[in-house]
Amino acid sequence: MAALRRHIFLEEEFLFPPLRAAGLVAPIFVMLREHGELWRTMGSIERGLFGEKTGAEVPACEQLLAQLEHHNSKEEPILYPRADEVLGGRASAELRAFIESGRMPDGWTCANA
Ligand SMILES: [Fe+2]
Repeated sequence: MAALRRHIFLEEEFLFPPLRAAGLVAPIFVMLREHGELWRTMGSIERGLFGEKTGAEVPACEQLLAQLEHHNSKEEPILYPRADEVLGGRASAELRAFIESGRMPDGWTCANA
């Protein structure tokens, strides 16, 4: 889940702003909303793992997988192909540098958490 949160951070901080500026306003709106849903589901899984067991942990994991599949089925074919053409040299360099060694800031939450 740390990797998924870092992935969401990377998209919201580095990828989505230039895509939104290029006109992909509605798709970014939907992706941000779905990131919020993923974020809340991860929170409920963690509360179950590290707090009192309620029996809802496995259904929450299944919900997370379904949400991810739903999300990726749109994000990958609609947004990722546009990234190559929209990201300028500077944005690409920042993104590449973060992928290699960047750390999500402590306490960062997605826009719709
Ligand atoms: Fe995403």
